[in-house]
Amino acid sequence: MTQAAPSPRFSSAFAEAVHAGLSKRPQKELPSMYLYDEVGSALFEVITALPEYGVTRAEERVLKAHATDIVAALPGNVKVAELGSGSGRKTRRILEALCKKQPTAYYPIEISRTALQLCRRELGDIERISIVGYERDYLAGLSEVSARRNEGERLLVLFLGSTIGNFARLAATKFLQSIRSMLEPGDALLLGTDLIKPLPVLMAAYDDPIGVTAAFNLNLLARINRELQGDFPLDAFEHVARFNPDARSIEMHLRAKRPLTARVRDAGLHVDFREGETIWTESSHKYAAEEVAPIAIDAGFECTHQWRDDEWHFAESLLVAR
Ligand code: TRP
Repeated sequence: MTQAAPSPRFSSAFAEAVHAGLSKRPQKELPSMYLYDEVGSALFEVITALPEYGVTRAEERVLKAHATDIVAALPGNVKVAELGSGSGRKTRRILEALCKKQPTAYYPIEISRTALQLCRRELGDIERISIVGYERDYLAGLSEVSARRNEGERLLVLFLGSTIGNFARLAATKFLQSIRSMLEPGDALLLGTDLIKPLPVLMAAYDDPIGVTAAFNLNLLARINRELQGDFPLDAFEHVARFNPDARSIEMHLRAKRPLTARVRDAGLHVDFREGETIWTESSHKYAAEEVAPIAIDAGFECTHQWRDDEWHFAESLLVAR
């Protein structure tokens, strides 16, 4: 998820990533962070409201039911950094509970400017809060926030939703290690994980009947057309969600319905597709609740608390840096 500076051959990091991903063999891929432009972020907000996508509501229930316990489990004098705040709606409960205890600085870190604006509007009215947004990728933003704290201030990092699930299992542990390397002992990470659940329920969450998820996924090709002078025929691609039992993940792909060639001028690309060939855009790994504690240890944390939603199998875990 880190965003490297574009090499001189390309006009942007996006162009470079598209070039690299669509040149991969045998499986073409595109990094999922690029799903979230202005249109994509708006579509994802709609996904969170779909009856089939229970993740966001489950997390809202957990945070609503346990905000006070969560805040009670935190060290005193914390600043809050959130990785991928989205609209900020879920975060309200925690911030309200914290602000009752202490004036609180909140640093949303987002690659989507639209999401940052939404989040400021959504949370700006909380009493005793101060909000400073960072338009950065996660680790770049976090290292800045962490470097700018004063003596004695603790950091609480929020990594909510099921974003950790978008990393492969090993990469997830490595990502948590990277977060840990920017923290001090006693700092905390509140981590959301979507839990393993019956397959039909899972599949519907990533392939809803009215096609919002399909539109969200297809928007990535539309974005390439818009921003990089591409000519993907959007009607020749379809959204596919599949379960990968070995990885325990749902994989999202865009599948070519017929053989075709697409050009992407600003990425210097001509790409051929066979009928049925796919571009892999995202995976969403599902966890067992008991998996979190050992991963935390591997990453240099201790999982001190876990709160769960039983209606939609979702867990919020508090990890404290050792
Ligand atoms: N982090 C979300 C998840 O894994 C992202 C997501 C939801 C998503 N639906 C999607 C990503 C469909 C790609 C396609 O649950």
